[in-house]
Amino acid sequence: MNLAQLDTPALVVDLDKLESNLKTMQTRINTLGLTLRPHTKAHKIPAIAQMQIEAGAKGICTSKLGEAEVMAKGGIKDILITTPIAGDKKIQRLVTLHQHYPDCRLIQIVDHIEHVKQIAIAASKAGLIIELMIEVESGQQRCGVAVGDELITLIQLIQQTEGVSYAGVQAYSGHLQHIKGYDARNKQAKAAVQDLFTLIESTLKPKGLAPEIISGGGTGTYAAYQDLNYTEIQAGSYLFMDASYRAIGDEHHDEKNTQFQAALSVLSTVISHPTSTRAVVDAGMKCLSIDSGMPIIEGREDITYQTGGDEHGILHLEEPNTQLEIGQQLTFIPSHCDTTLNNFDTLYGVRDGEVVEQWEILGRGRSD
Ligand SMILES: Cc1ncc(COP(=O)(O)O)c(C=O)c1O
Repeated sequence: MNLAQLDTPALVVDLDKLESNLKTMQTRINTLGLTLRPHTKAHKIPAIAQMQIEAGAKGICTSKLGEAEVMAKGGIKDILITTPIAGDKKIQRLVTLHQHYPDCRLIQIVDHIEHVKQIAIAASKAGLIIELMIEVESGQQRCGVAVGDELITLIQLIQQTEGVSYAGVQAYSGHLQHIKGYDARNKQAKAAVQDLFTLIESTLKPKGLAPEIISGGGTGTYAAYQDLNYTEIQAGSYLFMDASYRAIGDEHHDEKNTQFQAALSVLSTVISHPTSTRAVVDAGMKCLSIDSGMPIIEGREDITYQTGGDEHGILHLEEPNTQLEIGQQLTFIPSHCDTTLNNFDTLYGVRDGEVVEQWEILGRGRSD
């Protein structure tokens, strides 16, 4: 089947671009002397996680326990769950996941004494030792324990508690990923974690509390961490490279990123053309997320997209314009790959215009 024969709206990935992005990031991380633990929240597909591991990644991240369940079932053997969990049901599911996949290294993020106590009780009952990593505050003011005495107390608690073990720390500055300009972004990324590395050297190491793993960094900030002692980078979006990431700049350009290519797109069809300057496509908010801005129409910079609600996308055509045809297909580069992908059941892999791969997005909707 060729691309034009796909029914729309359809989520499509250009396999040459995906493979190029995969290779580029792995090579860059190797060159920086770091290891890659890619975040799979961007694609949610075990087969793609496997491709990342085959290319050299040490393991993967998932945001949610539900995604980790999908990835473990898909054969992934090293998973860091990057969001804390709470409540008996979740903790029991974490225990069950450990029991079902004893060969899989599963690490759970925590940032509070209660997490440690409750996970430890459940793990001890099941005769398990569950590995924990502590999320530290690195400027985003989301989850994360403050760097200082609170962190020291939490590490000591994990070390002294039966049923859990201390694997390291996570410092991910999500708020800095899209700062425009390579130097400005890297400078802020380093500054945001400086206190953590000072504490590690001054206090954690001498007290025997040094983390084995220091994990963090994304597509925007990974390059900042070469001089620090991060042991692994969690970048995820580099694989698809959405429109908002394409605009953050790289070491050669301030306004655009040319290291990675826009691999992900949504194929959509013109379903209505009510006036000469307005057309409507079959991709609304239930296809193309708009939390990071509007999608871009490939090759048609003269047309702007405006959401027309759940099912409609409104196109504004400049005058004088070339009319679109009813039934004409257009390709949209999403502004945010993660939230767009989560709208679809299937990802079609395309090479030279032919659909050669079809992946079920097994982690779709697994935000549980
Ligand atoms: C904790 C964590 N690590 C890594 C990532 C991946 O970062 P990016 O998709 O910006 O490469 C995210 C993305 O939201 C995240 O929340």
